Amino acid sequence: MEFVRLLLVFLHLLGMGMLVAMFFVQNRVAKEGPLNKGWLHGSALQLLTGVALVGLAPLTDKDYNHIKIGVKLLVVVLIAALVAVNLNKQKVASWLTPALAGLVVLNVGVAVFWT
Ligand code: HEM
Repeated sequence: MEFVRLLLVFLHLLGMGMLVAMFFVQNRVAKEGPLNKGWLHGSALQLLTGVALVGLAPLTDKDYNHIKIGVKLLVVVLIAALVAVNLNKQKVASWLTPALAGLVVLNVGVAVFWT
C-alpha cells in the first residue's frame, strides 16, 4: 500500500508541475488564443490523485487534516470551474491566467505550510 501512496504522491506532484508549466505555456505560446486544455487535465489529475490519497488514508495509516483537505478541494474545484467555463472561448481573458496560477500557488502553500 505504501507503494500505491507514493505513486499517487508522484502523480500529484507531476500534476502540480503541469499546472505551473501551463502558466508559462499560456503566457508565451497562447496569450492571444484560447485556454490550453492542459489546465483541465492538470486540475483533474490533482483532484483524482488527491481524493485517492485521502480515500486510501485508512489503508496507508495516514491521518490527514480534513479542514486543510477541504480547503484544497475547494480551491481545485474553483480552478476546474474557471477552466470549464472559459475553455471554449476564442481568446483567454487577461485576468484568467494569473488568477489560475495564483490559485495553484495558493494550494501549494496550503499543502506545504498548513501542517
Ligand atoms: C492545484 C491543486 C493541488 C496542488 C497544487 C497540490 C499540491 C500538493 C503538494 C505540493 C503536496 C506535497 C506536500 C508535502 O508532502 O509536504 C500535496 C500533498 C497532498 N495533497 Fe495536494 N495539491 C492539490 C490538490 C489536492 C486535492 C484536491 C486534494 C484532496 C482532495 C489533495 C490532497 C493531498 C494529500 C492527501 C497530500 C498528502 C500526500 C501524502 O504525503 O501522503 N491535494 N499536494
